[in-house]
Amino acid sequence: MAVAANVETVVQAAGMHVPPLMHALEQRLSALAGGHGEMLARHGGDTIAAGGKRLRPLLVFIVAGDLSEAAAPGLVRAAVAVELIHSATLVHDDVLDAAELRRGRPTVVAAAGRGIATATGDLLFSRAFAELALNGRADEVRVLSDASSALVQGELLQRADAFEPGVTVVRYLHRCELKTARLFEAACRLGALEAPGEPHPPPEALGRFGRSIGLAFQLLDDVLDVSGPPERTGKARGTDLLDGTVTLPLILARQRDPELAGLDLREITTAADAEALCQRIEAAGALAAARRRALSIVADAKASLPDLPERQQAALELVADGVVERYA
Ligand code: IPE
Ligand code: IPE
Ligand code: MG
Ligand code: MG
Repeated sequence: MAVAANVETVVQAAGMHVPPLMHALEQRLSALAGGHGEMLARHGGDTIAAGGKRLRPLLVFIVAGDLSEAAAPGLVRAAVAVELIHSATLVHDDVLDAAELRRGRPTVVAAAGRGIATATGDLLFSRAFAELALNGRADEVRVLSDASSALVQGELLQRADAFEPGVTVVRYLHRCELKTARLFEAACRLGALEAPGEPHPPPEALGRFGRSIGLAFQLLDDVLDVSGPPERTGKARGTDLLDGTVTLPLILARQRDPELAGLDLREITTAADAEALCQRIEAAGALAAARRRALSIVADAKASLPDLPERQQAALELVADGVVERYA
């Protein structure tokens, strides 16, 4: 799915309590972006207002189960905090990746420069923790700070491995766990911790589910970078490769195509080089193989979901399918 286009389907499966929660999330996000000085309002506000799939907050809400917005201020705060961490990360990620476009708009770094983008990301990070601290729960703060630390470690690993020919599948998967999967895990854990009734959904098992679908989500993101098509993904093919980022499609293609095995990514300097490399990766069957890997992770994640009310289970399965059936 375009996850966004099918949020409707997920919401229908999860229950009618979800739309008011999503609405409360949006209201709080824009209030926060508007309330902490001009810089956050302009740049942070822009990033938030540009939308995004809101996949992580959706997970927080689905995992928590059936409760209304009125009964759930703590739950909404948890979802807001997760989305703010995600937004902060994107603003910083675009500095590191020198990205031009995000959510169809110029990135903060492209529009305002490195210094402002770094500070905007920092502000979003700090607002996230301020919001979650209102819940007065050290366990929740721990979950989010663990995920945030992992994220930074993942980004550092990505920098360290840039242009490296010897990046292994295991090392690549570890990077994806850190930079993406752990925040999905945190979303599910926070939803479970904020769930009202008994029996309580199990945070451990749901955390593992979140981690797996987060991993598959990043695999697919990396496949989309190579597969395009640009009209659907909103960016040129091979952006990661031009940046020196060694992703699963390239690693698998290197195992299959001896000429690619010897390739130095530093030789890829133009959009045309990147396009040609993407075609070669595809021809080696590496895109299909990477997709299969993502699909199998999702299948395992669905199979190991704990016992949950039927509606909740169905909604989580839909989200899991959605992370590997998307173009944006
Ligand atoms: C983008 O995440 C960063 C990755 C982890 C690949 P999303 O694709 O969820 O970004 P938005 O929030 O929908 O823009
Ligand atoms: C995901 O990595 C970003 C983080 C989780 C920090 P990417 O660099 O692949 O994300 P996009 O492609 O820029 O959205
Ligand atoms: Mg990036
Ligand atoms: Mg990417």
